[in-house]
Amino acid sequence: MSQQASFPHTRLRRTRAHGWSREMVRENRLSASDLIWPLFITEGMGIEDPITSLPGVSRWSVDGIVERAREACDLGIPCLALFPNTPAEKRSEDGKEALNPDNLMCRATKAVKDALGDQIGILTDVALDPYTSHGQDGLINDHGYVENDRTLDLLTKQALNQANAGADIIAPSDMMDGRVGAIRDVLELAHHHNVQIMAYSAKYASAFYGPFRDAVGSDGLLKGDKKTYQMDPANSDEALREIALDIAEGADSVMVKPGLAYLDIIYRTKSEFNIPVFAYQVSGEYALIKAGAAAGIGDHDALMMEKLIAFKRAGCSGILTYFAADAARLLHG
Ligand code: PBG
Repeated sequence: MSQQASFPHTRLRRTRAHGWSREMVRENRLSASDLIWPLFITEGMGIEDPITSLPGVSRWSVDGIVERAREACDLGIPCLALFPNTPAEKRSEDGKEALNPDNLMCRATKAVKDALGDQIGILTDVALDPYTSHGQDGLINDHGYVENDRTLDLLTKQALNQANAGADIIAPSDMMDGRVGAIRDVLELAHHHNVQIMAYSAKYASAFYGPFRDAVGSDGLLKGDKKTYQMDPANSDEALREIALDIAEGADSVMVKPGLAYLDIIYRTKSEFNIPVFAYQVSGEYALIKAGAAAGIGDHDALMMEKLIAFKRAGCSGILTYFAADAARLLHG
């Protein structure tokens, strides 16, 4: 820290005194290009199915996803993250619907790519939970333990299925050991050289995922928790080990999830590695802001923007957020 004159020669309030001046010294800015918009897909045509635990967020049928993609393009949002609400009859113990080239995820990906091509990126989530009858992210043994290496085999096939459908960024959220390298190998072999991997590297076993599990329809199915694969919220050094491994295995970018309660992890990642880092402002974080604003705790847009700029300040290249369209609209005035 350089030496500075003392009061009254230095008055930090001088540059704060005018709007134009605050604008000049602002250190971080949020723009629509920082935002990745997560969308939930449902079966049917012309369907908008509002998600009660996520006010303002709906599940859309594939045609609606294409409309949202056009909206995102118009708003300058560069990428969508897709999640399917798989019909109950297609869920199974082994989640094999994840490998169906005609599943919701693949149909939505293809439809957006057919309509908009390279005007927008599609990020697809790799994990089995939207497809399993037990709601876990991988294959379970007789004791309900999620088995790493058997799961890897399915995850690589799921990733390839998504890449074949046109996905631009594969985002493994399953937290199995070794998945990034295994997926990279399969993508290279299949000549998907430019399909990126954004690793959910530091994904914590969080209480903030509740509304998401409702959105993809796995909350009623999940027994127990995901603590044998997702990280302990008490740990920080371990997150850096996860990130180092994912980089060594070929991740193009990494993610910290949830966002706000883990800004220290984002900051450490940005300081220690030279790789783009993204935050996932998860469903529970979004729902808390909505509930807070509805309860009169503060102004909705001000709460939303303050939390989003915090991610930029901490060092994020971008943010996955259910606020993406609202924030982009606000940024465009
Ligand atoms: C699935 C997955 C989850 C989220 C993203 N991918 C839920 C979970 O791990 O249980 C959560 C996103 C959110 O809460 O918004 N592996």
